[in-house]
Amino acid sequence: MCLCKGIPEDTIIEAIKNGADTVEKVKETTGATTGYCHGSRCKGKIEELIAKYK
Ligand code: FES
Repeated sequence: MCLCKGIPEDTIIEAIKNGADTVEKVKETTGATTGYCHGSRCKGKIEELIAKYK
């Protein structure tokens, strides 16, 4: 999912199910979007997962 930080999709989904309902909260919980590309590769995908799983 977040390639820069090596965070798998399952970890993001888990965070969303545990209440991270915004990209900012997913970032705080998992560190996603804080890698080299600053979320340009993963942010959109995280938004899709939030819409799907929250
Ligand atoms: S892929 Fe997530 S910060 Fe680059």
